[in-house]
Order: sequence, then C-alpha cells, then structure tokens
Amino acid sequence: MEGKLKQLISDAESGIGLAIDSKELDKLKIEYIGKNGRLTALLKGLKDIPAQKRPVFGKLVNDARIKIEQFFSIKENQIKQREKQIRIQSETVDITLPGKKNKLGTMHPINIIKEQILDIFSGFGFKACDGPEIETDYYNFQALNIPVGHPARDMQDTFYITENILLRAHTSPTQVHVMEQEKPPIRILSYGKVYRSDDDATHSPMFHQIEGLAIDKKITLCDLKGLLDAFAKQMFSTKTKTRFRPSYFPFTEPSVEVDVSCAMCGGSGCRLCKGTGWIEILGAGMVNHRVLENCNIDTSRYSGFAFGLGIERITLIKYGIPDIRLLFENDTRFLKQFNKW
Ligand code: DAH
Repeated sequence: MEGKLKQLISDAESGIGLAIDSKELDKLKIEYIGKNGRLTALLKGLKDIPAQKRPVFGKLVNDARIKIEQFFSIKENQIKQREKQIRIQSETVDITLPGKKNKLGTMHPINIIKEQILDIFSGFGFKACDGPEIETDYYNFQALNIPVGHPARDMQDTFYITENILLRAHTSPTQVHVMEQEKPPIRILSYGKVYRSDDDATHSPMFHQIEGLAIDKKITLCDLKGLLDAFAKQMFSTKTKTRFRPSYFPFTEPSVEVDVSCAMCGGSGCRLCKGTGWIEILGAGMVNHRVLENCNIDTSRYSGFAFGLGIERITLIKYGIPDIRLLFENDTRFLKQFNKW
C-alpha cells in the first residue's frame, strides 16, 4: 500500500510537471484527486487493512493529498504567470506604427453662405430670428396681402397639409409673426427652410431663404438700395454692381428685383449669367401698408422695407455650381471642396 502511494505521488509529480496549460492541469486534477480519482481509489482500499494500521495509513494518504495539492498549486501559479505573459505580449501596442487618420467633416456650402449672409447683415444691426415651417394660410398668404383666390398664390407651388395648414412657401410669414410681437423699430433677419412643389436643376422642393425686415420712422427705398448694394459688395466683390428692376410682390409696394453683375464674367456675359452680364439674387420692396395694418403698425408714423433671398441661389452663383441637386446629394467628394478649415 505504501509503495502504491509513493508511486502515485511520483506519477502526479511528473505528470503535473509536464502539463502546459490550465486545461491539462484540470484533467490531471480529476485523474489524481477527483471524486473518482486515483487517490480516492487507494482510500477505498483502507477497509482491507487491519484496523490498528488504519490511522497510520490514513495519515499517509492525507499527507499524499497535501503533497499532490502543492504540486498542483505550484504548477497553477507557473501556468497563470505564463498565460498572463502571453496575453500581455499579444496585447502589446506597436507605438512605432503610423496612426489612423480621422476624417474631419466640413461645413456644408449652404451653411457657409448662410453664415456669411447673417454675418454681413448683423453688421448692419439686423438680429436673427426664427419662424415655424408649418404655417396657416393666414400667415403664408392672407396677412401678406394675398387673399384667397388671389392669382399671386400661383407664384408659389404650395404644399398643403389641410385646406388651411401648409408648409411655408417662403420666409415672409416670419415678418408677420415679428410685427405682431414686437414694436418698431424692428430690424430682423429670418433664416430657414421653405417648401415648394418644384424639382429641377435650379429648383428643389425644399430650399432655404433669408428674409430681412426693417421697420422704423422715415425708412425709404433709398435705405433699401444702399443696404442691398453694400450687401452685394461684401458678399461677392467690391467691384460688384447692383441693378434694381421694378417688379411685383403683393406684400411690397413698390417692389423690386435685384440683380448683381455676374461674378464669373464681371458683366461681359457667360454661361452663368446666360450672356446677360446680370444675375438676379433677390426680391424686395417697401412693406405694403396693408401688411403693416394687418399687424397693427401705425402707417402714419412708420414705414419699412423687406427682402427675401434664396440661399441655394446665392451659393450656386458664388461657387459657380451648375446644378442645385449637387447641394443635396451630399457626396463628400463634392462637399470637401468647400473646406473652410
Ligand atoms: N417671398 C418672396 C419669394 O419667396 C421673396 C420676397 C420678395 C421677400 C420681396 C420679401 C420681399 O420680403 O419684400 O419669392
């Protein structure tokens, strides 16, 4: 029996010594000290030993268990150390490798132009404000002197939600909201999305407008002309000329359309200006008294001007972009050409 125990200890020592990972070690644990392992088998032989020798033998079996467990714990530590070493090695970062480049986004050309326009007008004392994109017929049309059945409604192909609720077709409704809420003097600029049922190389069903409004005592058409001429020179070039053509908008009287000399050819005629040397950039005029009265502004004391421009239009002109759809496809190869940084 003692011989068998010695054999077991020496088998365990050499077996455990050869184990290379924790999996193998677990298997050996089952083989030697598991419930049905070799040590338990020897213990079962205790019953065949004379009773007076059993305590001595029992102690020997116990000592053997302690020894074998020590072999296991020493080996376990070694394996753990090795495995940790291997893991650390596999996780090492080679700091000499080149880094990954992060792609930086760029500002969208529509936003670049919007910022420039807001910036220029804020220099003239105009403060930016907001208006709802979903409007009622009253704000989009009636308050702006476009009653039901008025032919001017056809100037804008409006998206209706119900008979009375619609997606605003221009930013002009903001004028009404502001005049209802604020007392003159007023100088605001409202930027936002507008919607029309239009879709081709120069029109998009959603686009952006900026609306300007100034109401004060003694405001004249000359103020409007001076302001828009100064704006055009800052926006395009100091050499840019402006031209004011008589036009018609129900919400202004008189109304004008403003052209700038073509930024691409300087006025001699090219593809961008269709050979005319001029490009239309916005609509404007003196605010119609009916609109002022609709907003309870005393027309014997106050007058005002308003203007509205399309951001996409200015963007196409400024950068010589041939098709408005390029602005909405968001192809990064196109967008990164406008990288400001
Ligand atoms: N709302 C007009 C449009 O969308 C643009 C416009 C013209 C705005 C004249 C104005 C204005 O404020 O005075 O076509």
